[in-house]
Amino acid sequence: MAIRNIREMGDDVLKKTCKEVREITPRTRELIDDMLDTMYEANGVGLAAPQVGILKRIVVIDVTGEDPYVMINPKILEVSGEQSGHEACLSVPGKTGIVTRPNYVKAVAYNENMESYEIEATELLARAICHELDHLDGHLFVEKVEGELMNAADLEEDE
Ligand code: NI
Repeated sequence: MAIRNIREMGDDVLKKTCKEVREITPRTRELIDDMLDTMYEANGVGLAAPQVGILKRIVVIDVTGEDPYVMINPKILEVSGEQSGHEACLSVPGKTGIVTRPNYVKAVAYNENMESYEIEATELLARAICHELDHLDGHLFVEKVEGELMNAADLEEDE
């Protein structure tokens, strides 16, 4: 198990466009394993490779804690509906804000064996896919926040 350092907002690596993965090498497998370990260690529901400083089109997502998706070269095929809710990011620690996303997403990606698969997602999983894919093109959720970026701690006090 290897935990990698999570890059935070202000780090230029988070603003870059990531490159497509052409083949799975032992280093790619190690990266994916480390990304999963790093995501779980940080109690996140998703992590994109640039967040650990690697400019490759790879994300890991697990909104249930027991069902991880590895998405390599992911592409969104279809979206519909809308959901507005609080979003957060391991690269923007302690902050949260309201972001509107599609409520349904259909995407295609490769798994860790470079087998293509489609995924249909709603609600939190749909939100996570949109959020993580944005990272691959150098975008953070803070660009899409409606109103103020808030301190997550303040929010918890209000509720
Ligand atoms: Ni994020």
